[in-house]
Amino acid sequence: MTAPTPSPFDLTGRLIAITGAAGGIGSATARLCAAQGARLVLADRLSIEEIRDRVGAEVAGRAAIHSVDTGCRQAVTAFAAEVGPVYGLIDTAAIAPVDDWMAEDWDEALDAVIRANVKGPINLARAFLPGMVAAGEGRLVLCGSVAGWMGGIRSGPHYAFSKGGLHAFVRWLSRQGAPHGVLVNGIAPGPVETGMTAGKGYDPQAYPLRRMARPEEIAATAVFLCGAGAGYASGAIFDINGGTHFH
Ligand SMILES: NC(=O)c1ccc[n+]([C@@H]2O[C@H](COP(=O)([O-])OP(=O)(O)OC[C@H]3O[C@@H](n4cnc5c(N)ncnc54)[C@H](O)[C@@H]3O)[C@@H](O)[C@H]2O)c1
Repeated sequence: MTAPTPSPFDLTGRLIAITGAAGGIGSATARLCAAQGARLVLADRLSIEEIRDRVGAEVAGRAAIHSVDTGCRQAVTAFAAEVGPVYGLIDTAAIAPVDDWMAEDWDEALDAVIRANVKGPINLARAFLPGMVAAGEGRLVLCGSVAGWMGGIRSGPHYAFSKGGLHAFVRWLSRQGAPHGVLVNGIAPGPVETGMTAGKGYDPQAYPLRRMARPEEIAATAVFLCGAGAGYASGAIFDINGGTHFH
């Protein structure tokens, strides 16, 4: 009898940290990683209770949960020290304010977006990459956006700027990780039904599939990127955008 071929998506026993875990895509990713057998560390800037509520009691009950602002380097360093080395990190934390970039006080919004969407991934990579390098294996999955390619469907300039930068950062970081067996990849979703897009005037009928994505349809790629099946993906940005943009 030959041994059964392991599933390319299997995460049994793997320790995966998910940031932005209280969000639409982050919470769906937590549930899907758990279904593939992963052990989870969940973090968000919201409270532990809110993270637990949004992920759901069953999965959250088996996870370590932390309230962390990923834009703060000190907080992320302390978080990583407490958690210890992880096999995978999936970062879905970000903000996308809708505002007027010509307004006098807009620089505050710009700073907030840079803090969450740019410093966040950089802080997390600085904190968690060394443990992966020491282990000789690891996966980093960062969330870009269709906005990073074409400016966005409803998003502002700060968000588009941050996500274009994120795509470049994935490529830069992949070169740091690859020689050590650490694979760094990104996902660039199109419009997804989450709190980030709610009430912002997205028109599902305007998209090729006549609907927005469900968070689970983005989470599935994040899970894939942590599994054995993605073992040769490095520095790639996976477009999961329902055909809203080609490049
Ligand atoms: N929803 C979409 O249409 C869409 C499209 C393209 C890309 N994305 C990207 O996908 C990712 C997930 O988005 P979502 O739609 O699930 O959004 P969401 O608003 O539902 O979730 C984002 C989560 O990140 C958390 N967060 C924000 N700033 C944080 C910080 N500094 N520290 C810790 N946590 C923080 C929020 O509290 C929230 O729980 C983001 O990177 C987003 O930019 C979303």
